[in-house]
Amino acid sequence: MRIDVITVLPKLFEGPFSDSILKRAQEKGLVEIHLHNLRDYSTDKHKNVDDYQYGGGAGMVMRIEPIASCIEALKKERTYDEIIYMTPDGELLEQGTSNRLSTFQNIIVLCGHYKGVDERVREIFITKEISIGSYVLSGGELAAAVMVDSIIRLIPGVLSDETSALTDSFQDHLLAPPVYTRPPEFQGHRVPEILLKGNFKEIEVWREEQALKRTQERRPDLLD
Ligand code: ADE
Repeated sequence: MRIDVITVLPKLFEGPFSDSILKRAQEKGLVEIHLHNLRDYSTDKHKNVDDYQYGGGAGMVMRIEPIASCIEALKKERTYDEIIYMTPDGELLEQGTSNRLSTFQNIIVLCGHYKGVDERVREIFITKEISIGSYVLSGGELAAAVMVDSIIRLIPGVLSDETSALTDSFQDHLLAPPVYTRPPEFQGHRVPEILLKGNFKEIEVWREEQALKRTQERRPDLLD
């Protein structure tokens, strides 16, 4: 899979993309992440990518020309399954969205800033708009990093234990059951006996019950 990220702050991705699972996925050649600094596509002598909004009002708007030339340059090289704009007014990112995106070959992720992008960018180029939650971030970069992480861990071969992404919370619309490791007792809190006994059939049933109980208690909306 190839992910092209368009941003005014490529440095923000250095941390999340250069460690742990995302780093290994790139090293293994399972995913290519390409960062594009939007300023490189500005023909303006100060490399500006934003401007005042028509009609007045506080906050700058990201101009269409640099975004258009970046997207058009990428589209000349390959076809994209989805061109995604990270925005608080997009559809809420859910596990199902990440599952679907993880099956794609090429996606572009555009990170918004300031008051957002000129509406015509959305009309002309964007095929999907995604929000990571009902709150406003300073820019789309952290949201993009969250989404990209959730996608990449689903690509076959990325996680060393192939089944572990399938038992994540939200797969099957259930939260994950509680997990324990050694020691068997800590400050009077014991690991449930059933896990220590090692009967895998019983453990499976217990885990299903716990997942259901946890979902009913914490996220009953997932069961609707
Ligand atoms: N940009 C700013 N806030 C955002 C959010 N909640 N989700 C996606 N992109 C954003």
